[in-house]
Amino acid sequence: MGDMAVMFEKFRFLTSGESHGKCLTAIIEGMPAGLDIDIDFINNELKRRQQGYGRGERMQLESDTVEITSGVRFGKTTGSPVTLVINNNDHENWQKIMSVYPQDYTVEKSFTAYRPGHADYAGSIKYNHKDLRNVLERSSARSTAIEVAVGAVAKLLLKHYGINCNSKILQIGHGKTEEEMHNEIDNAKSNGDTLGGKFEIIFDNVPVGLGSHVHWDRKIDGRIAQAVMSIPAIKAVSFGDGEYAAEISGKDFHDEMFLENGKVVRRTNHAGGIEGGMTNGEPIVVKAVMKPIPTMRTPLNTVDSSNMTETTAHFERSDTCAVEACSVVAEARIACVLANEILLKYNSDYIE
Ligand SMILES: Cc1cc2nc3c(=O)[nH]c(=O)nc-3n(C[C@H](O)[C@H](O)[C@H](O)COP(=O)(O)O)c2cc1C
Repeated sequence: MGDMAVMFEKFRFLTSGESHGKCLTAIIEGMPAGLDIDIDFINNELKRRQQGYGRGERMQLESDTVEITSGVRFGKTTGSPVTLVINNNDHENWQKIMSVYPQDYTVEKSFTAYRPGHADYAGSIKYNHKDLRNVLERSSARSTAIEVAVGAVAKLLLKHYGINCNSKILQIGHGKTEEEMHNEIDNAKSNGDTLGGKFEIIFDNVPVGLGSHVHWDRKIDGRIAQAVMSIPAIKAVSFGDGEYAAEISGKDFHDEMFLENGKVVRRTNHAGGIEGGMTNGEPIVVKAVMKPIPTMRTPLNTVDSSNMTETTAHFERSDTCAVEACSVVAEARIACVLANEILLKYNSDYIE
């Protein structure tokens, strides 16, 4: 399976960086040469990730911008690996705390009380860390900033093939209208509480036949689900009307086919644009549910690992609700999956 996995990975990337480290970095492999890289577009995507009702103070501190340090020359990709860097603006204040040098050792900002809903407990046992900051720094959703930058590059490739995307927040708490959603967030904030929500991402103008029915790990719904499910705090992913599939009968669920001017057309899109693990030419519709932010001003009960006593969880500045930002991250993740499939389909070393 290993060899096959590599064969079907054309658009690959790795990211690195800590929440309060010097910078976040990504190396993208597989970009064809000749694609116009619009840095303003990438920066605007980063800005979108930082916005949204209910974000914490950190968003005022940060104004993320990308630096491209390889793989692009005079505005176009060269076919070489593309390296993206986002500097952390408040790293200055954390230089000693995040130092790579042993002589800088400090316990400042270290903590030992597990935060429920975070990676602290399992991560510290798995990697044998006493200071839970060693887990927090990488498990933090800060890393999604560089993923949004990678996703923006993927979106530029998709745009070249006419594929566009948009997203919509469907629900926050019990609120479904914008005003209700904002009220829900205001109430949660004043109660020291947090909220999650549900959003929808749509990719339009997708060609038929991305993904494949022939192996489980080439099915595009599976690949998209993995890409979205692994975003911090995402707890459910569905396609089209998938979330209602238990209660709708076959007659109403499946998208019947008709002929118009000799072409097969659909009048519904319950499947969300995917049948048999392949795109069917209808818009791809993905819905995802984000859990409430786990770091809370009214802290949750937990255990302190240093002396094994019960206590309350560590609080570090945090969002009340980050569903809008999360939807931008989900767009980016799906864009990367689609960029990979597009490169597999059109299999070209350069773009004219
Ligand atoms: C855009 C975005 C922003 C987030 N902001 C916060 C935050 O400010 N505070 C927090 O505790 N969790 C935040 N989270 C969620 C946590 O990172 C996540 O719940 C945690 O890493 C545990 O992962 P899991 O929920 O997938 O199990 C955010 C997630 C996303 C996608």
